[in-house]
Amino acid sequence: MIGRILPDGVVAAELFDDPPGLAPHPQEEALIARAVDKRRREFIGARHCARQAMRLLGVEPAPVLKGERGVPVWPRGVVGSLTHCDGYRGAVLGYSLQVRSVGIDAEPHDVLPDGVLPAVSLDPERDWLAATSDDDVHWDRLLFCAKEATYKAWFPLTGRWLGFEDAHITFTRDDSAAGAVASGAFRSQLLVPGDTRDGAPVSEFGGRWLVADGLVLTAIAVR
Ligand SMILES: CC(C)(COP(=O)(O)OP(=O)(O)OC[C@H]1O[C@@H](n2cnc3c(N)ncnc32)[C@H](O)[C@@H]1OP(=O)(O)O)[C@@H](O)C(=O)NCCC(=O)NCCS
Repeated sequence: MIGRILPDGVVAAELFDDPPGLAPHPQEEALIARAVDKRRREFIGARHCARQAMRLLGVEPAPVLKGERGVPVWPRGVVGSLTHCDGYRGAVLGYSLQVRSVGIDAEPHDVLPDGVLPAVSLDPERDWLAATSDDDVHWDRLLFCAKEATYKAWFPLTGRWLGFEDAHITFTRDDSAAGAVASGAFRSQLLVPGDTRDGAPVSEFGGRWLVADGLVLTAIAVR
């Protein structure tokens, strides 16, 4: 499903349940030694997807450990992103020579819990939400999902925190993704200096979104 919103040059693997018999890579086991069952299942499922995506990319399947601030650690020359929520686990990977960074997020397609929207949105984003009339999309959840994907694309590039107030998200809808309830594009305008660790500064990211099968998915690939 996430493949419908990805550009050329990145690969994806996903799961919509937890097949029996999946196990973590032995080197990953220590990361979930004390985790509850839900956390084990999402961790293992997403990493199973990551290793499937590594095979698709043509790299040797490897453990996915965690670095600074929880960032997933990829094989040399590979960039990637993981997401998991109820009913979804996904991984998207690319070669760093072709893609500088990727960020994906999945959320249940439902209204955000009370009190979350004010904490994760800017005034102009709330003004836009109030004015938008499409009632088949939970735009508040989509906004949150786009912000999470923004952070996941941002952090590996910069090594810095990015708050919910530090990016302004704008959406367009084109319904171009086959089989989706709704789909389109978004822009994340970065409101803080975008100096990166090893290349040109970033000022905004472009991404795509879709709503299908009770899920909202967002994906950013930075060139
Ligand atoms: C880290 C965060 C983005 C994860 O998102 P989430 O919707 O809670 O959870 P998801 O299941 O979609 O993603 C979890 C995965 O994100 C990845 N992740 C965690 N920290 C990360 C980081 N610093 N950079 C990139 N990816 C990261 C990990 O792979 C993690 O899975 P794992 O723990 O199994 O390895 C979120 O918890 C967070 O801290 N958000 C605050 C920052 C933010 O969103 N700012 C908005 C900027 S506009």
